Amino acid sequence: MAKPISFARGAPSLDIVDVDGLRAAADKAFESDPGGMTAYGTAIGYPPLREWIAERHQVAPEQVVVTNGSLQADAFLFDALVESGDSVIVERPTYDRTLLSLRNRGADVRMVELEPDGIDVSALERVLAAGARPKLAHIIPNFQNPAGYTLSAAKRERLLELARTHEFTIFEDDPYVALRFEGSPLPTMLSMDSGDTVVYASSFSKTVCPGIRVGYLVGPAELIARVVKIATQTYISPSMVSQGIVNQFCLSGALERSIEFVRNALRERADTLCEALERELPEARFVKPLGGYFLWVDLPRGTDVGALFEAAAERGVQYVKGSDFVLDGGDSSMRLAYSGVTPEEIEEGVKRLAAAYHQLAGVADEDAA
Ligand SMILES: Cc1ncc(COP(=O)(O)O)c(C=O)c1O
Repeated sequence: MAKPISFARGAPSLDIVDVDGLRAAADKAFESDPGGMTAYGTAIGYPPLREWIAERHQVAPEQVVVTNGSLQADAFLFDALVESGDSVIVERPTYDRTLLSLRNRGADVRMVELEPDGIDVSALERVLAAGARPKLAHIIPNFQNPAGYTLSAAKRERLLELARTHEFTIFEDDPYVALRFEGSPLPTMLSMDSGDTVVYASSFSKTVCPGIRVGYLVGPAELIARVVKIATQTYISPSMVSQGIVNQFCLSGALERSIEFVRNALRERADTLCEALERELPEARFVKPLGGYFLWVDLPRGTDVGALFEAAAERGVQYVKGSDFVLDGGDSSMRLAYSGVTPEEIEEGVKRLAAAYHQLAGVADEDAA
């Protein structure tokens, strides 16, 4: 059996995690604040890190809650805002765990098509004009999971206008924002909003490491207070040890160095993946990502991505089927994550994937003949 190569997991390979920097940050954290690190703490998170995040986003600390990963923040937010039967807008395709979390809460999930420059705002307008009254629109603005697409500045404006007019909250889920390969960063909708329209989430999973489990929410103080109450009732407090380490990692400048390193590695991986696909699998259609972890690939209509999944697995290659990120359809699409594989593994993985595809396509052609 060939060595497994996984394009499935949205996680970094070990070589792009700054383990030495984390050890140094842990030493510093235990040395400088042993009491704060070892106590329960409170559900707002480790106060110095909360302040650091507040400063970054130019908001008051009362507008920030730091959680065990941003997925936990999402869950608290949904607990605070979404009741069974509530309508929630999401992108199509979207992050599978968000879909699951919303569906588990009985939300009426409405998917609106995602375009290479972000959610189709005209389609959203039509959904609203037809009478939809969403509580929330979940938007992943930068290097979207799973598509890798980025929401344009103009669409950010339009979304904010729609949210104000139709009185729904925008949930800006932004864990990949720091991982831009080229061009200037776009303003967050949080920073563009003059009122209480946006709740913002981000994470240190993609810039420090996922195992540290530190993420956060920024939003109106009253809503954050409600989230803090839910958090207290759930777990008293998140991990002070993790947050203390992240705090030192940020203060020492290790964060900026790590981001630079990760960005360069990801840029090389994305380039390698796109070039390998163009060469080995010219049938694949994709939009080259400007940052982040993911590439969305459309194969010719009629491709059985399920059968390809099996054939690729036999060759030791994994990916996630497009259908996992939508409520229906997505049958000829797949998500390839390049975060956890080296350029050499990418070259080899694409060769195997292409061989699996061409073998199946050959069988299909013979069947049709
Ligand atoms: C869009 C999106 N939101 C949230 C998360 C969860 O991040 P965390 O590791 O901070 O829980 C991910 C992780 O892949 C993600 O892609």
